[in-house]
Amino acid sequence: MVTVNTDEFERMKEKIAELKESLRAVIVAHNYQRPEVQDIADFVGDSLELARICTSVDAQTIVFCGVHFMAETAAILNPERTVLLTEGCAGCAMADMISADELKRWQQKYPGAVVVCYVNSSAEVKAESYICCTSANGVEVVASVTGDEILFVPDQNLGHYISTKTEKKLRLYPGFCYVHHRIKPQQVRMARRLHPDAEVLVHPECRPEVVAMADAALSTSQMLRYVGASSRHEFIIGTEEGILHGLRKQNPEKSFYLVSKSQVCTDMKKTTLETVARTMELRQNVVTVPEEIRLRAKRAVDRMLAVK
Ligand code: 13P
Ligand code: SF4
Repeated sequence: MVTVNTDEFERMKEKIAELKESLRAVIVAHNYQRPEVQDIADFVGDSLELARICTSVDAQTIVFCGVHFMAETAAILNPERTVLLTEGCAGCAMADMISADELKRWQQKYPGAVVVCYVNSSAEVKAESYICCTSANGVEVVASVTGDEILFVPDQNLGHYISTKTEKKLRLYPGFCYVHHRIKPQQVRMARRLHPDAEVLVHPECRPEVVAMADAALSTSQMLRYVGASSRHEFIIGTEEGILHGLRKQNPEKSFYLVSKSQVCTDMKKTTLETVARTMELRQNVVTVPEEIRLRAKRAVDRMLAVK
């Protein structure tokens, strides 16, 4: 963890503002980013919101504070803009659990099944898929697909959650997110005992047993909206701890507790104000996708954006 004093924060914020002008840039950040990074962004959101916003910004450069698959989705949708990822080695452990070759081999066993792929995946995997989804629209995306047999990659937990909301047959690839998968039912029980008046909100990347114990399973931005609209005052949160910044900022009178202290995505935390400034100054970590893959991946992303 990098510790920075307030003067350094202010100096870096000024530098980032100057670089933003000269690059004609927009800065977007995921809800899991560090508080100070979320605070300098023009837009903060979930995967779906960030994919959408990147198609409508008036900017030459998109500075992406997040992980690689998110910046890659922006590059797939915006070939005419430069996409910079604010930390070159920020990946997603779950996205790395399946390659295009592995998907093709799995697909051969189920000819005729439709591949739905979670956006937490590489451009190559998206290119082999019929349609993408995020945690915010997975149920609607699956409902939109013609055909009753679906191969869902790579997250078994999101796939299982969607399977409880549809009559279709979902075959689940065994990928998972370590941050969410390690949240255990006994930890939820303990948190409920400690905070009996709190509602339990979890991300659908959590295990089915954990989702079953929760009051709601929501994407990160859906969680922010849910809490804002709720008359309750206490919430137990089962997703990455970066969400607490937005929750507390938007709801200063409400209280939030993590199910466990280990809800940290190390890749999301690699971006700091320093890496944002350096990336912009050196115009480094440009995310590109080979055109043949980009066009096929874009079809899957466009189909998703047409659904919801
Ligand atoms: P959201 O789309 O809900 O923001 O989730 C992204 C993610 O990586 C969850 O771990
Ligand atoms: Fe990937 Fe999990 Fe990190 Fe989200 S929290 S970016 S799914 S490793």
